[in-house]
Amino acid sequence: MARNLILLSSALLVIGLTHVGTIAVDTIGGTPRVPCYFIFGDSLVDCGNNNDLETSAKANYPPYGMDFPTGVNGRFTNGRTIADLIGQLLGFDSFMTSHASATDEEICRGVNYGSGSAGIREESGSHLGDRVSMDRQLRNHEQIISRISELQQNQSFTDEHLKKCIYIINIGNNDYINNYLMPEKYTTSHEYKMEQYAEVLTQQYTQQLKTLYRLGARKIAVFGLGMIGCAPAEMERFGTDGKCVDWINDAVMLFNDRLKPLVDELNICFPDARFTFINLTNILAPKGGEPLPNKPCCPVRPDGQCVPDGICCPSRALSVYIDSFHPTEIANTVLATRAYTAHSSLDVSPHDIGQLTREISDT
Ligand SMILES: *[C@@H]1O[C@H](CO)[C@@H](O)[C@H](O)[C@H]1NC(C)=O
Ligand SMILES: *[C@@H]1O[C@H](CO)[C@@H](O)[C@H](O)[C@H]1NC(C)=O
Repeated sequence: MARNLILLSSALLVIGLTHVGTIAVDTIGGTPRVPCYFIFGDSLVDCGNNNDLETSAKANYPPYGMDFPTGVNGRFTNGRTIADLIGQLLGFDSFMTSHASATDEEICRGVNYGSGSAGIREESGSHLGDRVSMDRQLRNHEQIISRISELQQNQSFTDEHLKKCIYIINIGNNDYINNYLMPEKYTTSHEYKMEQYAEVLTQQYTQQLKTLYRLGARKIAVFGLGMIGCAPAEMERFGTDGKCVDWINDAVMLFNDRLKPLVDELNICFPDARFTFINLTNILAPKGGEPLPNKPCCPVRPDGQCVPDGICCPSRALSVYIDSFHPTEIANTVLATRAYTAHSSLDVSPHDIGQLTREISDT
């Protein structure tokens, strides 16, 4: 287990570094493979929705954004997020706009609703301040869809359009990090055993995914959680001396293990939709080789985020973490690349995002 903390090890070096170039080349001059792309989730995908909220969970200061084309912007990483990179693999020549700044011209091609510290549960992350919870993101999406309908003045066109979009959802980390794992601030760990908590989270998530379907989504990628017990912040907090906190990974796995059956059930319930599960645990599993240290690249505050204007390590292409929780752009590149084109049958179930872009047949 101790080796698992070196999340990307050689996978990062081999796959990550070679694909950074590929992503840029792939997208030059192409038309997108789908007309639209909608993004839901937490700080792993947030592109600035928290900038104007009352919260300490925001990343609109350096060193965040230092490797992003336009600099600081609110993303919780040095460069592009998983959502940005998947957008490029889909062939979009610019990034989806944050919901907070979306204009009428932009919303038809998609919106990014992601919000740092947000969770499946409403209260997750509340000790940090305001956030756009998953339920709130869905309400925002409902409003965006009404607006698209108004602009297009043709409901059947709008419905057909929404069916062709790719939807990704990356949420649940804060239901552990900023909820269940903070017994002094939240009641969930007093109310539920780990197994029960995984179950109530899954039930609420099921309702949210059904709502997304009801709002017209048909091609939906559901991301599992990574190994939270291997985040530098948790290893530091539990003083494990550089080893992953196994019981946290076990708790998170109870949730992850429910997502594939959930996706299978939704695909049976809704035969005109394609839901798929992206297995971050497998994508991040070490495949041998020289391990990389699980350490933040920038100097961090007590809450695990980068110290404003802190000097980052120069070798960001060799670091998994930018701060104590969030992956660097290079780590995001590995995740996005394999979510888009799976390298093994364990990476995704049953489809990778590339397969989702193809037409849904009537069978
Ligand atoms: C509405 O869109 C559909 C295609 O989805 C098209 O066949 C139809 O002609 C459109 N109706 C109007 C009034 O533009
Ligand atoms: C996800 O990956 C882990 C680690 O390789 C594996 O144990 C698990 O079975 C995978 N889950 C699915 C649904 O494929």
